[in-house]
Amino acid sequence: MNNFIFQNPTKLVFGKGQIARLSELVPSDKKIMITYGGGSIFKNGIYDQVKAALKNHTVYEFGGIEPNPEYETLMKCVAECKEKEIDFLLAVGGGSVIDGTKFIATALTWEGDPWEFLRQPIPTGNALPLAAVLTIPATGSEMNNGSVVSRREFKEKLFFFNDACYPKFSILDPTAIYSLPKKQIANGVIDTYIHVMEQYLTYDNNASVQDYWAEGILKTLLDIAPKLMKDQHDYDNCANFMYSATMALNGFIAMGVATDWATHMIGQELTALHGLDHGVTLAIVYPGVISVMHEDKRNKLLQYAERVFNICDGTDDEKINKAISLTAEFFTSLGVKIRLSDYNIGDDTIEEIVRRFDERNFVLGENGNITPSMIREILQHVK
Ligand code: NZQ
Ligand code: ZN
Repeated sequence: MNNFIFQNPTKLVFGKGQIARLSELVPSDKKIMITYGGGSIFKNGIYDQVKAALKNHTVYEFGGIEPNPEYETLMKCVAECKEKEIDFLLAVGGGSVIDGTKFIATALTWEGDPWEFLRQPIPTGNALPLAAVLTIPATGSEMNNGSVVSRREFKEKLFFFNDACYPKFSILDPTAIYSLPKKQIANGVIDTYIHVMEQYLTYDNNASVQDYWAEGILKTLLDIAPKLMKDQHDYDNCANFMYSATMALNGFIAMGVATDWATHMIGQELTALHGLDHGVTLAIVYPGVISVMHEDKRNKLLQYAERVFNICDGTDDEKINKAISLTAEFFTSLGVKIRLSDYNIGDDTIEEIVRRFDERNFVLGENGNITPSMIREILQHVK
């Protein structure tokens, strides 16, 4: 196990009816900006619950944060927050709203042009305090310090980390899942699954507890995802899904282990260039990554085959191949198409992505050996 330092300051408030706790969780002397997305919170009653809980607070609102939050929209909110002298941000939404709010919180304390800390991830250090009411399990943004922001004008989707952006608290009410479109349940399951794989399926780190945690989350997802796709009103399945998503990217399974993240980095480019949902990009790219990198990941792929899919028969190669195909089948079973050609994406996009990584001088993967030409091989594999 590698050396590590772990600290995660986010208070989790989990369960049915917990949005009401906002009244006691948000300091009463703050001027609050509630941020939200395209309006789902008005249809499922979450907005009403938030407003009722904050009826004695000073509250402003900013809506319209898009999926894959847009820089220009967020900068409008920054201007409004400055004008109204906001001192607390409450994100009510999914990863896009929470990420966008982290950007707003950081931009409000940043002296220069906020594009700087996105273009060149640099330690930012400061942010306005923020908290979240999560409405879709997927990204783990509710309990981490990361944020991903798109700037469509430049066809860029970039991330930054800021320790001051861990939400002060996050409210996780699993009943939010009841109103999710099936497509978003599938996206969230896949995002959670790949978050685990990016931190688990590398090389052997002798980190036994982290491995069992990771496998526990994967098995939970394999078990509950088909049930949720049929019936998204089973509270316990919803609770297990929501908790899995948070645990997949709040730092727990990353302690002391090597991490990959190649799939996320490549997938981000597909969103930047073609606007594909984040979860969809991962479902496309991941089977390519584990196929092309299977020698580097050999031991862990075997462990994954045996412990997660209970594949005990056959040669090692057969077990690995079976585990790779079962992984891809899991994504398609959720109704997601996993080939680039399903989205009319061809060689020109593949070459543009290769060019971008070349230009940035990036190598990816847990061994830092996924070069731009291997990225081409990965994408050709999933064409
Ligand atoms: O905008 P509204 O109207 O609210 O609708 C949203 C949106 O259209 C809808 N939705 C959310 N909760 C709902 C609901 N609809 C009905 N009922 C509910 N309860 O779902 C749609 C997608 O929302 P979004 O927030 O975009 O989804 P997600 O949570 O998957 O977030 C994706 C973004 O997070 C980034 C992704 O790159 C992408 O930009 N990520 C953030 C990470 C992080 N901060 O750590 C890590 C991830 O790997 C990821 O990159
Ligand atoms: Zn993700």
